[in-house]
Amino acid sequence: MATFSNRIPYMRAAADVVRVLFESISDAGTITFGGGAPAKEALPVDEVAEITKEILSKEAKGHQMLQYGNPMGLPALRQTVLDHLLLPASLPAKYENIIIGGGGMEGVSLVGHLYLDPGDVVLVESPTFVQSLESFQFFQAQSVAVETDDEGFVIDALEDNIKKHKPKLIYVIPTFQNPSGRTTALERRRAIAELASRYDVMVLEDDPYRELRYSGEELPSVKSFDKSGHVIYANSFSKIFAPGCRLGYVYAEKEIVDRMYDVKTALNSMTNVFTQVICAEFFSRGLFPAHLRRLRDIHRERRDAMMNSLSAHMPEGVRWVYPDGGLFTWVSLPGGLSSTLLAPEIKAAGVTYLPGLQFFAEGQPLLDDCMRLSFGQMPPETIDKGIELMAGVIKSKL
Ligand SMILES: Cc1ncc(COP(=O)(O)O)c(C=O)c1O
Repeated sequence: MATFSNRIPYMRAAADVVRVLFESISDAGTITFGGGAPAKEALPVDEVAEITKEILSKEAKGHQMLQYGNPMGLPALRQTVLDHLLLPASLPAKYENIIIGGGGMEGVSLVGHLYLDPGDVVLVESPTFVQSLESFQFFQAQSVAVETDDEGFVIDALEDNIKKHKPKLIYVIPTFQNPSGRTTALERRRAIAELASRYDVMVLEDDPYRELRYSGEELPSVKSFDKSGHVIYANSFSKIFAPGCRLGYVYAEKEIVDRMYDVKTALNSMTNVFTQVICAEFFSRGLFPAHLRRLRDIHRERRDAMMNSLSAHMPEGVRWVYPDGGLFTWVSLPGGLSSTLLAPEIKAAGVTYLPGLQFFAEGQPLLDDCMRLSFGQMPPETIDKGIELMAGVIKSKL
């Protein structure tokens, strides 16, 4: 049989981790803290059904929905991104700066296509989102982890690594980070943009959780401090609308977005027009503000349930991040316990989660005493039951 391309074996390690991640989402019969899906109760099923019924006809938007579309994205959805998502966040984008892609992952991939050659270095947070590591591996780039603390990248360490590795890209998830739930502090956001400009390195700011804030103050994005065009801002409709619709967007300098057009036509011609039309209609009908309130309420309740359950059940020495939003908390175990070795036993008790080891690139210690817990998928009572079961296993090991 013909051999696969060079990149396929290169991707293997991260791809295997992502496979386990997807399997954990669909583990029927277990309490899952594994995947990164939003609450199913928060998906706008009725609204999408109503919209589709009304516009999927020859007289309405049926032809447009089933036809080819513009590789840059549906004009109405690009305008939606400006009016409803970027301008309210004080990001002064113009229409020409926006391209629509297939979920947040396509934004990451488009940036990889534009900037990464084999052997290039990407500086990433420690820990970081495993699927982006997989994407960087697809381009045969090397991800190097930089030290972080509760406020995000340690800026001196970031600068040292820029000098040492001359990276092509800095990858940052500044708000309610996946997997840690932490948020990059204001001054660090400014510093990241400044370093990018000073050392002529591109930054990919991946921000799919920004709108899911349940407490604390909103922070300006890294992109808002970008004076030289080095920051590419990517976001997704997956967490605020519906992951099944596969929609996301990138906001960057026109020259960058124009080159993404070139990549996109080679890659997949355009993003799903059917779902773009529905999503744009959802926003133009004014349904988003109430939907976002509901999303926040449902997930805030789950965040609170998980925080309270951790306090109530976990033995002394277990620590966790209090996230002001998003879907994740990051739990550290005491006594040298391995979250990888505990996973099968905790699964046997009926609960799944993702061991922390999977979220680290080389360059920083690979920590096996951490785990990512998602509070998005389970209702509050189930969260409490799941944490109690986990705590029982952990206590028995200490
Ligand atoms: C940080 C981050 N980036 C990108 C994505 C991918 O988003 P999407 O599902 O829209 O492709 C996710 C999804 O969990 C994420 O957490």
